[in-house]
Amino acid sequence: MFSKQILVCQYQSCLAQGSAEVLAAFLDCSISEVSIVPSECQGQCNLGATVRVLPDEVWYCRVKPSDVSAIAESHLQNGQPVDHLLHPRFHRSY
Ligand code: FES
Repeated sequence: MFSKQILVCQYQSCLAQGSAEVLAAFLDCSISEVSIVPSECQGQCNLGATVRVLPDEVWYCRVKPSDVSAIAESHLQNGQPVDHLLHPRFHRSY
């Protein structure tokens, strides 16, 4: 049973922003109890690569492969979202 799901957009705009490499970086991390899922467009195409963490409903934008280890360690392992990557449309306090 997975406790979290990571949706990594693999649609056109995000792919152009390197989301295939972001997905590969997540898959390279061995994160227990986390399901990593390539997704269709998440409707945030101008700020890709888009990554969404469920059930937390935390959205990350402009994610690069080099950001994946921070998301994995801070958010997925320690429950602390990575502030500077939060999508401003959903997390306005940032
Ligand atoms: S192409 Fe990724 S959010 Fe639309």
